[in-house]
Amino acid sequence: MADVGRTHDCGALREGDIGKDVVLLGWAASVRDHGGCVFINLRDRYGLTQVKADPAVAPAVAAAAAGVKTESVLRVAGKVVDRGTNRNPKVPTGAVEVEATEIEVLNPAKTLPFAISDSVDVSEVTRLTYRYLDLRRPAIQRNVVLRSRVASLVRNYMDAQGFLEIETPIMMKSTPEGARDFLVPSRVHPGEFYALPQSPQTFKQILMVAGMDRYYQIARCFRDEDLRADRQPEFTQIDVEMSFATPEAIYEVTEGMFAAVWKTTLGIDLPRPFPRMPYAEAMEKYGSDKPDLRFDLPLATVTDLLAGSSFQVFANAAAKGGVVTAMRVPDAESWSRKDIDDLTRVATENGAKGLLWLKVKPEEWQGPAAKFLAPDERTALAERLGIAPGDLVLVVADEAGGKARQALGAVRLKVGDRLGLRVQGCWAFTWVTEFPMFEWDDRERRPTAVHHPFTSPVPEDLELLETEPLRMRARAYDLVLNGTELGGGSIRIHRRDVQQRVFKALGLSEESARAKFGFLLEAFECGAPPHGGIAFGLDRLVMLLCGASSIRDVIPFPKTTSAQDLMAGSPSGVDPAQLADLGLGIVAKRPAE
Ligand code: AMO
Ligand code: AMP
Repeated sequence: MADVGRTHDCGALREGDIGKDVVLLGWAASVRDHGGCVFINLRDRYGLTQVKADPAVAPAVAAAAAGVKTESVLRVAGKVVDRGTNRNPKVPTGAVEVEATEIEVLNPAKTLPFAISDSVDVSEVTRLTYRYLDLRRPAIQRNVVLRSRVASLVRNYMDAQGFLEIETPIMMKSTPEGARDFLVPSRVHPGEFYALPQSPQTFKQILMVAGMDRYYQIARCFRDEDLRADRQPEFTQIDVEMSFATPEAIYEVTEGMFAAVWKTTLGIDLPRPFPRMPYAEAMEKYGSDKPDLRFDLPLATVTDLLAGSSFQVFANAAAKGGVVTAMRVPDAESWSRKDIDDLTRVATENGAKGLLWLKVKPEEWQGPAAKFLAPDERTALAERLGIAPGDLVLVVADEAGGKARQALGAVRLKVGDRLGLRVQGCWAFTWVTEFPMFEWDDRERRPTAVHHPFTSPVPEDLELLETEPLRMRARAYDLVLNGTELGGGSIRIHRRDVQQRVFKALGLSEESARAKFGFLLEAFECGAPPHGGIAFGLDRLVMLLCGASSIRDVIPFPKTTSAQDLMAGSPSGVDPAQLADLGLGIVAKRPAE
């Protein structure tokens, strides 16, 4: 450690250092007065070293040490001594302590709003208001350190694969990724705005037209959308684009990147290639386009088996072209009423009208629908689901079709939680492939892009664009890890005519397509190579690696779920003069909450 004044950091000293004169700099994590002999745990990000101020050795130093307030910044000079029978094997420096000959308070700390410890329970509001104190806590520090290592591993790997890291603008033209833009008003051009990038999508495609061939960027993205545990208004992507790329080439390169990260940070060899699953299968078997494959318990469609059921919920769903889907939970027939009520709540919160259950006892089937099931229906169900005595069978029916699988998929995750199957340290990667190109937006009454408007359709589906767009498949793929969408990408459209037809299918007029994306359309006519790419959420990746439950724990300065920075206090009002400069006026202010 070459910093001026310090001979070692607080995690460095070992038995072999006994007898050395050292100088340490750090924070007083604790100050304990044992009848005149004062012990201070000195902490920095490397570790903790015990400092002893013994009145028998240096009376003035011991007296001063007793008055040190915790979290003050100290300079300690002294000799490394053996702790003898008082060694602490739990701490790497625990064999030794520093017998202080000098203690200088470089900056005293006042009494802090919370103790710097992983074990104190502090509200998130307090933690985020005093984020610099929160960041001093070892657990959060480990996350920040891991994040830095991951970013550096990604850079090393991508550099070695011949990728160029190229910056794209932060003040730019709107790039749609399905969220609202954050806008930046222009002073020089009053009434005009830049948008902050929702992603570098259009610029990375332009870089392919420019011949850069292999691009990556650890890129900040901004999206004004409703926030959740795995969403922030500003977040970081590992953004990748390749010319002449096939999906295979993209899988190969990026799987290598994850393998390198897992190997170096966790010492784990990830099995490759990662498994793949078509979107339709993910939806049918797991009720989600981001299936958690740490455990199986798949759903099965049973609509055909129950079409003639005397139970109206089933018969109606079948008659109206809907879906009846079911899953078996082995050895769960003893689950309580409350367990089933909890699962029912999850089902209804996710759009189901209810959740039917069947308990398969050796002698009979129990449950609200059991008596309506004819013997041949039972046999058929038992065969399709592999039902055995002791099982709990859960069923959701939906006349419109769409919600049944999604709801039972959510129930499946809850069952996985309840059975302890969603464990940290188990890594189930999967590519989800063959996404549909469009989905129907009820509010807008038009198709919207499932990935984004620059995604190429599967070539043989292009002819459906003007007639049956909802039947088209896209050349898009997501990478899913343990039920979280880590990344998504696609092979892109690289021809102007195709891009214009897709814009049109999305309800974008020719003029507005030209106004918004004219630069890209023109670039496609100037020698645009076929290309494709992907982007991964760095925050989500680090969150999963370190087992955090929210990306707020891996972002040094996150926003709250209401998009506020509680420490610095943003967003905040601005000076009227600043607004006038920008040619802006506030029309209406939302009433304070
Ligand atoms: P997409 O919108 O799927 O694709 O984003 C890629 C990945 O970015 C992460 N992510 C987020 N992380 C935290 N907070 C958010 N609000 C947030 N939104 C997205 C997710 C997601 O999988 N340009 C395309 C990529 C491409 O086609 O190459 C894009 O941005 O992990
Ligand atoms: P109800 O007739 O609405 O009181 O429902 C009787 C039982 O059927 C309850 O246990 C509901 O949870 C369940 N149920 C109702 N509709 C559905 C549905 N569409 N799918 C699965 N279960 C349902």
